Amino acid sequence: MTRRAEFKLGLFVVLQFMFLLSLCSSEEFLPQISPDTSPQPFLPFIAPSPMAPYINTTIPKLSGLCSLNFTASESLIQTTSHNCWTVFAPLLANVMCCPQLDAALTIILGKASKETGQLALNRTQSKHCLSDLEQILVGKGASSKLGSICSLHSSNLTASSCPVTDVDQFESAVDTSKLLLACEKVDPVKECCEQACQNAILDAATNITLNASEPLMDNSVRISDCKNIVHRWLATKLDPSQAKETLRGLANCKLNRVCPLVFPHMRHISANCSNELSNQTSCCRAMESYVSHLQKQSLITNLQALDCATSLGTKLQKLNITKNVFTACHISLKDFSLQESGCLLPSLPSDAIFDQDTGISFTCDLNDNIPAPWPSSSQSSASTCKKTVRIPALPAAASSQPSLYNEGVKRLVIFVLSMVLVMLLS
Ligand SMILES: *[C@@H]1O[C@H](CO)[C@@H](O)[C@H](O)[C@H]1NC(C)=O
Ligand SMILES: *[C@@H]1O[C@H](CO)[C@@H](O)[C@H](O)[C@H]1NC(C)=O
Ligand SMILES: *[C@@H]1O[C@H](CO)[C@@H](O)[C@H](O)[C@H]1NC(C)=O
Ligand SMILES: *[C@@H]1O[C@H](CO)[C@@H](O)[C@H](O)[C@H]1NC(C)=O
Ligand SMILES: *[C@@H]1O[C@H](CO)[C@@H](O)[C@H](O)[C@H]1NC(C)=O
Ligand SMILES: *[C@@H]1O[C@H](CO)[C@@H](O)[C@H](O)[C@H]1NC(C)=O
Ligand SMILES: *[C@@H]1O[C@H](CO)[C@@H](O)[C@H](O)[C@H]1NC(C)=O
Ligand SMILES: *[C@@H]1O[C@H](CO)[C@@H](O)[C@H](O)[C@H]1NC(C)=O
Ligand SMILES: *[C@@H]1O[C@H](CO)[C@@H](O)[C@H](O)[C@H]1NC(C)=O
Repeated sequence: MTRRAEFKLGLFVVLQFMFLLSLCSSEEFLPQISPDTSPQPFLPFIAPSPMAPYINTTIPKLSGLCSLNFTASESLIQTTSHNCWTVFAPLLANVMCCPQLDAALTIILGKASKETGQLALNRTQSKHCLSDLEQILVGKGASSKLGSICSLHSSNLTASSCPVTDVDQFESAVDTSKLLLACEKVDPVKECCEQACQNAILDAATNITLNASEPLMDNSVRISDCKNIVHRWLATKLDPSQAKETLRGLANCKLNRVCPLVFPHMRHISANCSNELSNQTSCCRAMESYVSHLQKQSLITNLQALDCATSLGTKLQKLNITKNVFTACHISLKDFSLQESGCLLPSLPSDAIFDQDTGISFTCDLNDNIPAPWPSSSQSSASTCKKTVRIPALPAAASSQPSLYNEGVKRLVIFVLSMVLVMLLS
């Protein structure tokens, strides 16, 4: 109860990372940096206008062979390049960059279908169009490694194995009014529990698969590929901003269900925390050291942090650590997100914002001081839909006005800077 109140009162803070961008001219700022790269010169106060070189250094070289009208989706592409901004793309990949890229592709392809009557590109077209889109995004400041960061392939623009791409065939095989009714207004919180739109999409994908396939085949892969076709069709029926909200909302339901962090081995924790006689000081030191490794991986949402706490707690319990070491060692949810001072994203992250003078910013909740819950033996995973979960599913009202600059901002910028220093000099 009090936690919920605390959370709602929490200040939402925009982080300004402009200095960071002046320091990292490329994408060195990655946790998985290879240890043998030679030290880079570190010249902190030289670059006068940090953002300028990033805006229009690259003029995209387009193939001229892609039939998609990217100009018609200018602002969508702009937002995507901000969410996938060079140095941040790997850190925001799972939560902001790749879901937005996926939504942008879906909307662009949906739009094209109004002209062509087809909800997918053929293989030749998809190769040209993917390469053109990548060029355009990079020209606007996005990472040049989106292909690997978001597993983006030219097949993402085709039908893959879905047998139906024709809009007319789609509309004759699907109960379109039922589908639209379920998906035209998606409440990002309710949808994750009730799954009304997700179920309608699955239903429609199943119907188009069955309409065009041999019965008695294993159609699971096709049905899954057809979901993308259904998304594209939906995008034609909604206006672009509504389509984007819906697609991002659906993606959020999926990503908030799992912890995206990789858990390294726990030898040191089990050695220091396992038996009853263990020394709390050294146990907590081992815990802190372990958590600090998790923190280098990526920015995560508050609900993902909850999943991560559950996963870690469950792993510790399997090592026969029965006492609540989260409480004993004051581990909180924000400890799972990038850096010690903890930028935890809202469960429905808003888009990154670009400003000519201040750079790229995105909204974090720095005051989200919720202790990490120790999993009880009966409940194996944290679910947004269970009444017992204390965290508000969506801090909606508070996240809409990212305007506060407080001490947390400084702390975080400094933290990021020192992390960059460590990366560059190590
Ligand atoms: C790059 O942007 C600056 C300022 O926005 C502008 O003056 C300049 O002409 C642009 N250069 C190119 C090549 O577009
Ligand atoms: C692309 O879309 C823009 C804006 O909607 C429009 O002005 C332009 O004529 C279109 N280009 C082509 C080749 O259709
Ligand atoms: C592209 O497709 C792959 C495989 O189907 C999928 O894992 C990936 O998320 C897609 N990428 C985007 C940006 O949609
Ligand atoms: C692929 O699509 C493009 C544009 O729609 C068309 O011009 C081309 O002939 C198609 N290629 C094949 C192999 O079907
Ligand atoms: C799919 O087909 C079933 C059976 O024909 C029908 O009841 C259902 O409404 C259809 N759903 C959609 C979304 O088309
Ligand atoms: C697919 O749907 C169309 C239009 O509703 C129908 O005429 C056709 O028989 C269906 N085919 C199969 C295999 O269900
Ligand atoms: C716990 O370990 C620390 C050093 O790791 C030591 O200073 C302290 O005395 C130990 N405490 C107990 C109660 O053994
Ligand atoms: C925990 O135990 C290991 C022995 O496996 C030891 O090397 C380590 O220094 C201890 N302390 C911490 C903080 O990990
Ligand atoms: C945990 O304790 C049980 C029962 O005491 C034992 O069988 C098991 O091997 C222990 N597991 C670990 C990882 O130590």
